[in-house]
Amino acid sequence: MRLLSVRLILSLIFAVTLVSLFSAYNQVRGERRSLRNDLERRAAVLADSLAGNVEPYLESGSLKKLQVIVDRFSNRERLAGVAIFNEKLEPIAQSSGLTQLMQARPGVIAQAIASNQTQSAFVREGKAALHIYALPLTETTHQGRAVLAIVHEASYIQAQTARLWRETFLRVLVQVLLIVLITVLIVRWSIAGPIARASQWLRALRAGKVGSASITMPDFDLLRPLAREMTSIAESLTAARSAAEKEAQLRQAGESSWTSDRLAVHVRSKLGNSRLLIVSNREPYSHVRSGKSIECVVPASGLVTALEPVLRACDGTWIAHGSGDADRDTVDSHDRLPVPPEEPKYTLRRVWLTKEEEEGYYYGFANEGLWPLCHIAHTRPIFRAADWQHYREANIKFARAVLEEMHGTEEPMLLVQDYHFALLPRLIKRKRPDARVAIFWHIPWPNSESFGICPWQRELLDGLLGADVIGFHIQSHCTNFLQTVDRTLECRIDWEHFAINREGHRTIVKPFPISVDFPETPEVKPEQDSAYLERAALLRELGVDALFVGVGVDRVDYTKGILERFLAIERMLEKHPGYQGKFVFAQIGAPSRTHIKRYHDLLADVEAEAERINWRFQSSGWKPIVFLKRHFSHREILRYYRAADLCMVTALHDGMNLVAKEFIAARHDEQGVLILSRFTGAARELLDSVLVNPYDIESTADAICHALEMSPEERAARMRRLRKAVKEQNIYRWAGNLVAELCEVRLELPEESKPKIQVHAAAQLD
Ligand code: G6P
Repeated sequence: MRLLSVRLILSLIFAVTLVSLFSAYNQVRGERRSLRNDLERRAAVLADSLAGNVEPYLESGSLKKLQVIVDRFSNRERLAGVAIFNEKLEPIAQSSGLTQLMQARPGVIAQAIASNQTQSAFVREGKAALHIYALPLTETTHQGRAVLAIVHEASYIQAQTARLWRETFLRVLVQVLLIVLITVLIVRWSIAGPIARASQWLRALRAGKVGSASITMPDFDLLRPLAREMTSIAESLTAARSAAEKEAQLRQAGESSWTSDRLAVHVRSKLGNSRLLIVSNREPYSHVRSGKSIECVVPASGLVTALEPVLRACDGTWIAHGSGDADRDTVDSHDRLPVPPEEPKYTLRRVWLTKEEEEGYYYGFANEGLWPLCHIAHTRPIFRAADWQHYREANIKFARAVLEEMHGTEEPMLLVQDYHFALLPRLIKRKRPDARVAIFWHIPWPNSESFGICPWQRELLDGLLGADVIGFHIQSHCTNFLQTVDRTLECRIDWEHFAINREGHRTIVKPFPISVDFPETPEVKPEQDSAYLERAALLRELGVDALFVGVGVDRVDYTKGILERFLAIERMLEKHPGYQGKFVFAQIGAPSRTHIKRYHDLLADVEAEAERINWRFQSSGWKPIVFLKRHFSHREILRYYRAADLCMVTALHDGMNLVAKEFIAARHDEQGVLILSRFTGAARELLDSVLVNPYDIESTADAICHALEMSPEERAARMRRLRKAVKEQNIYRWAGNLVAELCEVRLELPEESKPKIQVHAAAQLD
């Protein structure tokens, strides 16, 4: 710091001195020039007027008169004297003071006589500085040529310039002193001070003395631009430290809980130099136009909720369909972009589909065929040959993108997601036998008879069996799958290990119950201090007055049992009229797949049903159902979860259902009751919820009443146990187990395939 100050001071002094000297030099020159000009002018005027006076006497030879005139003029200000010389340079008349001063004849007089022209010069006579102005006079018969010399004392000009230099010196001196003082103060206040504070803060942080609440740096003035970077380093450091502490505590307590850090370490150690790739139809972030700007949206999808924290923890690449209308504007030339946008942690690779492909593959085969095929919700699947063709082609298109992303990576790990990509595992394995491939089926797998109605069941099963690991949420889906394979394909099933051996390839089939992140502290600080105030604010926004609040959060899908839920609420209000005017149910319903008629009609049905029930019961300031028909962000949903007395998940059939787990994860206050359909995968784990059969309207109505009237102790005890279950079986354990299982797989690499591995002829995929 001292060196910096010295350098700064010396540079400033040098610069300021240079500038001052330069300007002083110009000023002195200007001043001297103007003084000299002034003197010249005065001498000229005097000479002219004097010449007119002396010439007649010169002509008449009256030397005495001349002497009188010369003496009269000689006592003017700064005039050293006046003299008239003849052409031999002898004085004809001369003022008394000059005799002494001008013992030698300055050359300027001789020049004036010789040239017969006015001459002037500054000369030095002994110690005196003089200005001589020599004006040739009219030639006379008596004297011949003569010159009138006006001699001025000029040393005052030197004195003046010397004074200016002195003043400059003093000014520079004062400036230098001020510079030193100001520099020292600035360095001390704005540089040394903040640096000292920052280093003190960093030291405290290193020593673990800065609590997480005070991670944000204090204001460090000049270093403000660095503050954000340092704050995020501090946050990472604090997070890492608390993760390490948590690990240590868990080890101490003999517990083994999964955290994002543990997953990151686990995946890194398993992957080595390899890379984690995930492929799903739905992308985690889509860009949509909103007026003139582009908005980044997280779609409503359980799959996205589950996988996003995994990718954040492990880096890697997520390959998905770019479905947003501004998606193409936000990718690079390889269709990639780093996400999450605010703090990139992994890569999103977008795949583009034409309208026809999307229509046939996504809306048609996946969502009008496979979705109702796998969910027992009494909606008939529709299978069209053209949709199947698009489904195959879309799988090939995604396979190409996956192979591109795998290029150059040995033994990559691929986690394929869901029913959109049944053919993908085989397509990838054929080209990259060194890849470890798992597919996770996020929806139920029906029994073999139900699945058997699909005209392309053999092709779908063959595609799936290209994978090394096939995951379902629960054991019964695994069993259904194995039975389906057993009845459909030629293969050997190892029931003991739940594996399928077919054409020299082994596929493990296992349950991996998916889950959510489970933050120990609230992700978003509640806006209000208490749940009571938060609920009051929410009800105000909804425009209803109520004592009890229920919440439902779903994509508007016929598998979610939203209509059955509304009927149960209606029945509860019938059976227990005391809740009329007191209980309100907020249903968040994100419109989904509305391009499909069944979904489009359902949305209208849900709205109409809510309206019908409201019309029946509503009173001024109250209605039983508030239907919020739009997509809500996770942050927005959290407010509803926290304010609710109960959450209803009444799916008619669901692979897992993550809303149930999200609700539990959000209840840090250990309050709230979960009413959960027994036909969800989550019902196998969340035994402390109030389990219902959503088709049974009567008992679901009773369950609502039971939840509302449950004692606070029982409510808290149940929620505590539910939270423990979700915490233990969180999303990091899910991913950790899946990756670990995949790493156990022994790759069956035929020797001759090895050199070909890096070459991927994507064009030959079909
Ligand atoms: C289910 C499926 C997911 C899907 C999600 C949302 O959870 O298993 O694959 O992403 O619904 O549906 P969408 O069709 O909008 O992606």
